Order: sequence, then structure tokens, then C-alpha cells
Amino acid sequence: MTSNAPHEPWDAETNAAEWDRRYSESDSMWSGNPNEALIYAVTSLEPGTVPTFTTGPTPTTVPTALDVGTGEGADALWLAEHGFSVTAFDPSAVALGRARARDTQGRVTWVQGGIEDAPIDSTFNLVIAMYPVITHTEANLTRLLSFVAPHGRLVFVHHVVDPDTIHDGHFRFVVTPEQFRAFIDTTPGWSVALDETRARHVTTGAGSGHSTDRIVVTTHRA
Ligand SMILES: C[S@@+](CC[C@H](N)C(=O)[O-])C[C@H]1O[C@@H](n2cnc3c(N)ncnc32)[C@H](O)[C@@H]1O
Repeated sequence: MTSNAPHEPWDAETNAAEWDRRYSESDSMWSGNPNEALIYAVTSLEPGTVPTFTTGPTPTTVPTALDVGTGEGADALWLAEHGFSVTAFDPSAVALGRARARDTQGRVTWVQGGIEDAPIDSTFNLVIAMYPVITHTEANLTRLLSFVAPHGRLVFVHHVVDPDTIHDGHFRFVVTPEQFRAFIDTTPGWSVALDETRARHVTTGAGSGHSTDRIVVTTHRA
């Protein structure tokens, strides 16, 4: 980020411009591969959740998925390749342009916007939030859960870090896995399907400095 000091979260326009600026510093920011934590979480769910991995009867309907803060879109594309009908959003037009360019078969619906204002009014069988940089507010956490269809799941993954010391303190405002877990534990209708801390093995891209993930998967009990 541009500032060397911790700052209050940006308004939507500034946030999108900052992420565009950041993405524009290189041809690609992330590794281009789907996150191993996503593959682990999704394939850990019970058989039938991901059609490609199904050993039982073929699902009669196509499951839907939403990627929150998709960035350059590798996870959204991986979900589309594995049988989901996928929508993905991010405030950065630069990142979404790269995601669209990789989506040569037009499998994913790409939407510009942040958690606060993305024009999404459907619910999804699977919602993923992979290393999301979203401000810790009750409104944002409530909207995150509101994307999940009855009996659907939400996969939340973030680096295990000290928010006070990384990225000039900017992470003091970002939802951590601890805060996400606490929110689920105090919100009726949600249960925890998985909560694990795991090593991460990314050697390329801007995320390569991080070595530990916390993966929290919640299920809507409705
Ligand atoms: C650390 S990156 C992770 C990108 C992607 N999920 C991945 O794992 O490669 C965080 C992403 O959050 C996006 N972002 C920033 N502000 C956001 C907001 N208010 N709502 C949703 N996403 C946001 C950024 O543009 C960026 O693409």
C-alpha cells in the first residue's frame, strides 16, 4: 500500500484505485494457481460437494459458487473446471481484466465491486473467501454469510499473521480467521465444519512470504 503508517479503511473508490495501482505494478500479482488451501477445504467436504470428485450418483443440479475478492481469478476458474457455476467479484478492474482474459471459455461471471457494494443478490451453495482483505465490520461479516444458500458452506482462509506488524499495520482493520470464527460462534444457524491451521507452500507471487494458513469452513444449518 502507499502509506507507511496504519490508516483507516478506504472508501470504496479509493480502495478500488489502490488495488488497481497495486495490481498494475506487475503483470501478475499471484502465482496463477488455485490455492492449495481451497483444494484441501473443498475436497475435505463430504462426497458429492464437488461433482468431479463425486463417486456416487451424478448431481442433478449444478452447484453454485461465489468467490469473494477473487483477484486474478485462479480459484474461481478452478471451481468452474470442477463443475460449479461460478460468480466472482473483486473491486479491482485490473485484476478482473486478467481473470477474464484467462477465462477463455467464459465459464465465470465476473463482477466488479467489494464486499460492501458488489451487486450480488443471489445465494450460493459454496462461498469462498481466500485471503480476503475486507474490513472487520459486522455489516461485512453479515453480508459474507448472507451469500450462503440454506445448507451451503463458506470457506474462509487467511494467513496466520500478527496484524500489528505486517503491511504497515493495515491488517489491524482486516477480518482475521479468529474474528470470523468468533462471528460464526455467536451467530445462530451456523456450525463449524472445519477449523485447521496448515502449512502453505507457495513459492511464487506476492503471497509467497506467508507460510501458515488458518482454514475455517462453516455450514448453514437452516
Ligand atoms: C490477498 S488478495 C487475494 C486474492 C485471491 N482471493 C487469491 O487468493 O489469490 C485480496 C483481494 O481482495 C480484494 N479486495 C480488496 N478490497 C476488497 C473488498 N472491500 N471486498 C472484497 N474484496 C476486496 C483485492 O482487490 C484483492 O484481489
